[in-house]
Amino acid sequence: MYTQLLMALRHLVRRLAGLPPRHAWSNPAREGMLTIGIDYLEANRLSGAYAEFGVWRGETLATACRLAQVRQSFRFGGHYAFDSFEGFPELSGADVHPMFKTGDRACSLEQMSANLERFGVPPGQVKSYKGWFSVSLVPGGAADREIADGSLSFVWADCDLYESTRDLLPFLFRKAKPGAVVAFDDWFCFDANPEKGVQKAVFEYLAAHPEVTLVPFHRFGWHGYGFIFQKLTGDAIDMLGQVRTGLLMG
Ligand SMILES: C[S@@+](CC[C@H](N)C(=O)[O-])C[C@H]1O[C@@H](n2cnc3c(N)ncnc32)[C@H](O)[C@@H]1O
Repeated sequence: MYTQLLMALRHLVRRLAGLPPRHAWSNPAREGMLTIGIDYLEANRLSGAYAEFGVWRGETLATACRLAQVRQSFRFGGHYAFDSFEGFPELSGADVHPMFKTGDRACSLEQMSANLERFGVPPGQVKSYKGWFSVSLVPGGAADREIADGSLSFVWADCDLYESTRDLLPFLFRKAKPGAVVAFDDWFCFDANPEKGVQKAVFEYLAAHPEVTLVPFHRFGWHGYGFIFQKLTGDAIDMLGQVRTGLLMG
């Protein structure tokens, strides 16, 4: 009785605040990251599409769609979902860890799409790409042709592993626009060890691409870190290059 009353009260407060109802499937830490990211995009008048790499059952994706839906003057210019829809790939090298198993987090594309509808996302709002990132994100492939370079304003990277993140970064940084929010959901997995997981993939990419920089923006939960992606030009590459990694670690 008391719990029901509390839930009804929470529901009312969220309605008054213009937020969609929080369902069992929405995660407060991720919702916080999405909200602050959308606030930032709206305030800076940055338009663009939302893309999520590793969507599993579609819970964060649905939260992103629903949060944008209730805004008066903000819309994403498209929503894209990328996943194997077969769970994690074969694990090797730096990715071997008791937390992850090949095939874990499998959810079919059909089930994920049904979940989106159940979560209140209108059918057809999300364009999905099924396949391993090493295949679905190659230059000249369907996703590369259909999504313009520099058109993503919010990227959610959530595939947990070093190799998966390594495979998606070239596509991510080609498609993201300068100023885009880039949230790495698994930044602190693998004991936050920069020689493993997402951090290893990101630091390797940055070392090879001195023009790309990630400005620390917002930490969420125990696991995630959101950045703002910027592209440096000219002298700034040399000037900032040396302090960039320090900033990122900060
Ligand atoms: C932790 S789940 C994503 C959770 C989801 N973003 C959410 O918040 O509800 C990780 C997903 O990444 C996908 N994945 C991992 N490595 C992949 C790869 N190399 N190619 C395609 N999908 C991959 C898995 O299939 C899984 O659905």
